Amino acid sequence: MDMLVKLYELKRDPALDSRMTSQAVVIRRVLAPELPALTAWIVPRFGAGWAAEATAATMRQPPTCFIAIQADQLIGFACHEATAKGFFGPTGVDQAARGKGVGHALLLETLLDMHAQGYAYGVIGGAGPMEFYRRSVGAIPIEGSVPGIYRGMLPLAQPSEVSD
Ligand SMILES: CC(C)(COP(=O)(O)OP(=O)(O)OC[C@H]1O[C@@H](n2cnc3c(N)ncnc32)[C@H](O)[C@@H]1OP(=O)(O)O)[C@@H](O)C(=O)NCCC(=O)NCCS
Repeated sequence: MDMLVKLYELKRDPALDSRMTSQAVVIRRVLAPELPALTAWIVPRFGAGWAAEATAATMRQPPTCFIAIQADQLIGFACHEATAKGFFGPTGVDQAARGKGVGHALLLETLLDMHAQGYAYGVIGGAGPMEFYRRSVGAIPIEGSVPGIYRGMLPLAQPSEVSD
């Protein structure tokens, strides 16, 4: 289901920022030359579809994809403007780094960027962990939004089909 977020009510969260600083996690906008590293990280964890969406976001100017880095390693990402204007997603955090606020920090940074780019509301496209979005940024479900924009999407090609 898609969810709706009031971007105009969001504020920076100094406690969350300190939590990232204390774990030496840096959240920042991705750079276009980092695209191969980003997609190579996403594919084995979250699949080719999310890598394609991250590519679309990274190729915007400025890129609308944010990354989390710890000890020079990528540990998470979040995008907007990937599959549709005004849409947040996809996002993912490495399993070993979950539950430490990184997903929340990436979400907030990305939604604040949407607001700065002129949106009043943001849509979380095909929200999986709805409780995460409700708790972190007060997102509410959009009734009747399944399958929404993803209706009739082509299945991802399997490697055997690609090599035929
Ligand atoms: C969803 C995801 C990005 C969250 O990242 P994270 O770094 O673990 O999240 P945080 O530590 O910032 O959690 C923020 C809050 O949401 C809660 N939360 C996190 N994941 C949750 C989940 N799957 N279900 C319910 N609540 C969740 C946390 O408990 C935390 O609550 P608190 O502030 O009260 O302690 C991560 O679990 C992930 O990569 N999942 C797989 C990919 C995915 O589903 N992406 C979303 C697609 S729409």
